[in-house]
Amino acid sequence: MSTIDYDPYSHEAMKDPYPFYAAMRKEGKPHYMPKYNGWALARFQDIWDASSKVDEYCTFTKGQTPGQVLLGELIPQTFMTMDAPEHRKWRGLIRQEFTPEGAKQSEERLRALTKELLAPLLKKGQFDIYRELANRVTCINAGYNLGLPREDAEKWRGLIDDMLWRDEGQVGGGSERNQAAAGQLFGYLAEYVQKLRKNPEIATRYTKIYLDADIDGRKLTDEELTFYLFSLLVVGSETTPITVAGTFWNLQHNPEQKAAVLKEGAEGKFGLAHKAFLETARYDQPTNMLARVAKTDFNLNGAEIKAGQPLLFIYASAERDETVYTNPDKFDLYRQPTEKSLMFGHGGHKCLGMHLGVLMGCILVEEILKAVGDYEVVEDQCERLYGEHLSGWGKVTIKFKPHA
Ligand code: HEM
Repeated sequence: MSTIDYDPYSHEAMKDPYPFYAAMRKEGKPHYMPKYNGWALARFQDIWDASSKVDEYCTFTKGQTPGQVLLGELIPQTFMTMDAPEHRKWRGLIRQEFTPEGAKQSEERLRALTKELLAPLLKKGQFDIYRELANRVTCINAGYNLGLPREDAEKWRGLIDDMLWRDEGQVGGGSERNQAAAGQLFGYLAEYVQKLRKNPEIATRYTKIYLDADIDGRKLTDEELTFYLFSLLVVGSETTPITVAGTFWNLQHNPEQKAAVLKEGAEGKFGLAHKAFLETARYDQPTNMLARVAKTDFNLNGAEIKAGQPLLFIYASAERDETVYTNPDKFDLYRQPTEKSLMFGHGGHKCLGMHLGVLMGCILVEEILKAVGDYEVVEDQCERLYGEHLSGWGKVTIKFKPHA
């Protein structure tokens, strides 16, 4: 029997889960959580194997986040909470937009947006990378892809932050602040859906695709369409800015690597800066964990999993697995890419926005470095995220020589 008392909702795990992850990986198989009659998958191989057969072993219809699966929180009905073959059909509708070529089409616009929002910050000589820049860029971009008015971006950005906020000790996303924000965001998007129904000609990009979608004779109801917009807005906004902010923190705490990145940047090259972003996505994997439910009995590397049991796929732990990475707890931008990675998941539900996320992240890191050059992190104005779902840096303030 395991001696590890792991609960993803304990204060200790929400504050710093990495010691729990290391201990669970040492157990050499999935970790049973009696409180939830479920399993925490902390080892790379366990998540990889389960993901490879996810269509056979698991259902997403009981939720995809820990809150939905363990606490019974509301499950938005989108392709993210569907199983194959429906999942592939509904996800496939917007697949083209997310291929490397599809993402690349946004490059110029994203770079221009980043420069525009960065310019006034440069005069201040100090700013919070997450809140004042990166999260604004990703939110405006997510809204652009849905055809939402840019002038509303600050509103929905604030609502998403409030929805995902966790007070210390808070279990799940049910606080008044979370619920009020979710309700307002849903209401805002539901109103937009009504507008789209009356004036379908205003629909663009993903919104147009889902508004017109007809799969096997089924069209989306107003509520379903609202959930699509809601989910796409949220998933497109959060993980990338957390990783951008973390990149600056990690470089600051690894001075030799920072010096190499700055030296290259001074020559107009940013290859190492891009590697620093990707290494941050491994070292401080922002998704922390996602969840599903077993739909059949199966053996997973020594664990007898029963149909109906919840499974946590802890990506942040897998990406620190010592059987896959040498010195996994060290931030090392020179690390060679491994043959397999779980940074963006694996299998049918692998991250749809992977190429877009990397593109946005690299542009942000590059443009900040180009503009500020050397910088210092203001340590007492930095904050790590708290909670079970997202992980990493939600505030990283840097200071630098202000521009005239
Ligand atoms: C550094 C940035 C990002 C990271 C590390 C990341 C990571 C992940 C991971 C690990 C999953 C797997 C989910 C699962 O196992 O259930 C996922 C799913 C997903 N991601 Fe990302 N993501 C990033 C950026 C983005 C962006 C920019 C978008 C834009 C829309 C996006 C859209 C999605 C969607 C739609 C899914 C669900 C796919 C499905 O269920 O079929 N992601 N992401």
